[in-house]
Amino acid sequence: TVLVVDFGAQYAQLIARRVRECHVYSEIVPSTMPVEEMLAKNPKAVILSGGPSSVYADGAPKAPEGLFETGVPTLGICYGFQVMAQTLGGTVERTGRSEYGRTEIELSVDSLLFHTLPQQQTVWMSHGDAVSRAPDGFRVTGRTPGAPVAAMENPERGLFGVQFHPEVLHTEHGQAVLRHFLYEAAGCRPTWTMVNIVEEQVERIRAQIGSKRVICGLSGGVDSAVAGALVQRAVGDQLTCVFVDHGLLRKGEAEQVEKDFVAATGATLKVVDAQERFLNALAGVTDPETKRKIIGREFIRVFEQAAREVVAAAGDGDEAVEFLVQGTLYPDVVESGGGPGTANIKSHHNVGGLPDDLRFTLVEPLRELFKDEVRKVGEELGLPAEMVWRQPFPGPGLAIRIVGEVTAERLAILREADAIAREELTRAGLDRDIWQCPVVLLADVRSVGVQGDGRTYGHPVVLRPVTSEDAMTADWARVPYDVLATISNRITNEVREINRVTLDVTSKPPGTIEWE
Ligand code: XMP
Repeated sequence: TVLVVDFGAQYAQLIARRVRECHVYSEIVPSTMPVEEMLAKNPKAVILSGGPSSVYADGAPKAPEGLFETGVPTLGICYGFQVMAQTLGGTVERTGRSEYGRTEIELSVDSLLFHTLPQQQTVWMSHGDAVSRAPDGFRVTGRTPGAPVAAMENPERGLFGVQFHPEVLHTEHGQAVLRHFLYEAAGCRPTWTMVNIVEEQVERIRAQIGSKRVICGLSGGVDSAVAGALVQRAVGDQLTCVFVDHGLLRKGEAEQVEKDFVAATGATLKVVDAQERFLNALAGVTDPETKRKIIGREFIRVFEQAAREVVAAAGDGDEAVEFLVQGTLYPDVVESGGGPGTANIKSHHNVGGLPDDLRFTLVEPLRELFKDEVRKVGEELGLPAEMVWRQPFPGPGLAIRIVGEVTAERLAILREADAIAREELTRAGLDRDIWQCPVVLLADVRSVGVQGDGRTYGHPVVLRPVTSEDAMTADWARVPYDVLATISNRITNEVREINRVTLDVTSKPPGTIEWE
């Protein structure tokens, strides 16, 4: 294990991911965690993350007391580097020369971290304070105009620090720096591979579930599919998957679950066709939040009923259904404060708070994984690529992409238009660069068009391609004109009811990604 000590910057998760890309397992811990607790995790190395503070600010987070005396190889990055320098008797000061963004650095190749790398290179900086004097016993191994000590090391004590951010892609050789630290300075071995993750999880799931029965709700999304596939690999027929088809998925997605998922995993699947029920419940409703509430409520009811049936079919005794699979990911765990079970509050929302007489223990095989790792595990388990690489899609589905009342006819129209947009974005090789591309049907708007000799009076759709890191902020994606032209031509030609295609060029904020 490599511990990434979080000083409160958005970079800790990125560092943890980069470490795992070196095939070394990493975990994020708060900077307030006592060193004894860290040592109990048997870390091979520690990385101190960047942070928003100045080491001189009131209440600035400190290095965990005694960390540098433990002998565990430690790399300080940015704020973590300054904390290390200050704690060990170096000098950190406001040089008046802040550096933000791409910076040229001169590195010493006589260094455990930088040997084999070019002496001059471009790195990503983001700092106001700078280390002006390294602590005794440290060699200065990097300099920039704004940072007299931009890197330092004391290999005898296993201590290293860099002012720049090796974890961001703009740092040309950042990944090599991390590899040198992990493999050479800390002696880590690249054992965190997809094959090992699958094997380890399978073992753990078996140990947790034993001979009991387990249920998994599939949504059509990546997380529930991979979680279900892992559990299937571990306990086979003890698992029953439940798929509530609410009729609000995109073209081909229900089939992916019903056919491809089952073919790839051999899982037992109970499909509940609830399309009528959802349509009836949504009849006449136009308000977005009301749509969401109705869908959430109906979903719980249908899933609950299906779960009862699975439980009843399983009978009592050792065979009883005691476990429920959840696709909770590592970022959810970190954001809800780490610790065992802390993500339950959030995951409960997903299944929608099942009633008391349906108490399940959660099985969360993805709790340690980032999204990109989940996708790789999915590939390793042989799930279809369309499922594994599916872009984020809202739980309420197409219902919140029809501005106006949701009807079967409107869903069918939107499904066709959406399928064309997805197909063309994939064909253009853009589907993995674009975060999502909602296609929105303005069902209550009509516009005049002309087709052949005839006048048409159809509906517009809006294309909403966005780029984003985390859906919190987004920008409209600059999709090439010719791709947009193809999508527009095809939709207006192939979907009779649509006679106009428009493009949404609003960032988030102020716009949200979805229209409702
Ligand atoms: P907005 O529209 O708020 O969307 O910018 C941010 C991200 O969340 C997704 N989204 C939802 N996901 N239930 C969900 O599970 C919802 O009600 C919901 N609304 C929006 C949206 O697709 C985007 O990825």
